[in-house]
Amino acid sequence: MSESKAFYLTTPIYYVNDAPHIGHAYTTAAGDVATRWHRQRGESVWFLTGTDEHGQKIMRTAEANGVSPQQWADQLVESSWLPVLDVIDAVNDDFIRTTELRHTERVQRFLAGLKERGDIYEGSYEGPYCVGCEEFKLPGDLADGTGEYEGQKVCPSHGRPVETVSETNWFFRLSAYADRLIAHYEANPLAVAPTSAYNEVMSFLRGEVQDLSISRSTFDWGIPVPWDPAQVVYVWFDALLNYATAVGLGDEPGSAGAEKFATTWPANVHLVGKDILRFHAIIWPAMLMAGELALPHQVFAHGWLLVGGEKMSKSKLTGIAPSQIVDHFGSDAFRYYFLRAIQFGADGSFSWEDMSARYTAELANGLGNLASRAPAMVNKYRDGLLPAAGPSADAELALQALLASVASVADESMLRLDFAGALAAMKSFVDAVNLYVTEQEPWVLAKDPANDERLSTVLYTICEALRAIAVLHHAFMPKATTSLWDQLGAEAALGPIGSQNVTDVGRWGQLSEGAVITKGAILFPRLEETAG
Ligand code: MSP
Repeated sequence: MSESKAFYLTTPIYYVNDAPHIGHAYTTAAGDVATRWHRQRGESVWFLTGTDEHGQKIMRTAEANGVSPQQWADQLVESSWLPVLDVIDAVNDDFIRTTELRHTERVQRFLAGLKERGDIYEGSYEGPYCVGCEEFKLPGDLADGTGEYEGQKVCPSHGRPVETVSETNWFFRLSAYADRLIAHYEANPLAVAPTSAYNEVMSFLRGEVQDLSISRSTFDWGIPVPWDPAQVVYVWFDALLNYATAVGLGDEPGSAGAEKFATTWPANVHLVGKDILRFHAIIWPAMLMAGELALPHQVFAHGWLLVGGEKMSKSKLTGIAPSQIVDHFGSDAFRYYFLRAIQFGADGSFSWEDMSARYTAELANGLGNLASRAPAMVNKYRDGLLPAAGPSADAELALQALLASVASVADESMLRLDFAGALAAMKSFVDAVNLYVTEQEPWVLAKDPANDERLSTVLYTICEALRAIAVLHHAFMPKATTSLWDQLGAEAALGPIGSQNVTDVGRWGQLSEGAVITKGAILFPRLEETAG
């Protein structure tokens, strides 16, 4: 039985030379929110993340710590990279490590196929290499060093001198694919996003694209080249293949791997930081073309989290661990904040002040306050049972119309990975509902039994609006919205929140009369209450 094609989204696989910081968690959180949203559209989804464990960078870190690279990787994956997924509440379907046999075997088989097809040849490489980037550089890529590196050429990302590599290696005929790549991107302008990333890729492709050395002979921490075991596969060539090896690349027809590949490949979205755009939008699709495989629908390059105006990085000692933020604000607020405050695709600065301000204004006071008022009023005025609504007046009709438009803007934004656009639309609805409560003054209506039906309508409207708010925010804030769902007593009639379809969220009237509304825990405690 073959399933329909899954919505397949990947994060980069992260280097295990160090523990994750919030820059890494940012990409994974974005991927998790996007895939949860697609699940709530009723799609079959596959969400892959993992770790990149070969190459000189990891090898040297392990050496400096007196352990083997495998021990180093094992220890870091167990102690840091797997746990961070729980810290940020990410639910990935698979986690691939490039040292796993399922990966190394498939890489070797793919490489052997390229060699047979004539896309690989032996040559000699001489030129600069940055171990921090694990990248062969062109002289034009380098910057002039300053301070202790005055007079030397340095990598602009790492600020440290490059090394000169001079080796006989195996080369991939990347240059042969430049024209096909240009044609592909001209025909598919959304295949690289945002536009700034698309333009960067096109201008690179229109320049001089050179063949790529895809093996190294001076160290052994990597996958052996199948026909030349004295060489190991260049770490990026190995790493990029994870997206396909993890879903069964090249497996025997009829096998489970082949079936998985058929229902998963090509990827819908490769999420990457803009630092690794060229690998993903030039080398990777050329490899796929050479292997006669379908190309991913989109590579989306997001911006950097900056600290003091520079890309946050552990090596520059500006890395903040995700748990430092999550311990203070919770995982929901972590996920919400970075996707709300920074336009996905642009750089953004993190500051505790900005995060605290938004947390207080938008989560504790905005959404959180609304969510706690509604159950309190239903308890007070209707013994905790949701009343049926009477006829809708203009105020209710306006809210219903706003919800319908917010729901469609949110969905359309999410499909473009415009998280901030979706959240802004959702916030406009939360604000409108808060205003509705203030204007309708249910506590005044409650004073006169003549207003009984009107009060029921207002209470129903607030709760039904909260139903939609919970469903819309669920991908961003799974914990708080699940608690809100419980408080609304919604599961009995509607099923679990995760199965609520976001394309149906704007249909008014889904909560039923008699639902048991309970006062639960505060969704977003005020910061002063959590301090100390
Ligand atoms: N191992 C490679 C990727 C191989 S994918 C086939 C790599 N790893 S990395 O750990 O250095 O970085 C991976 C990703 O982490 C970046 O592309 C980006 O998505 C994220 N980030 C790392 N630092 C970041 C910031 N300061 N800001 C935002 N994202 C950052 O490159």
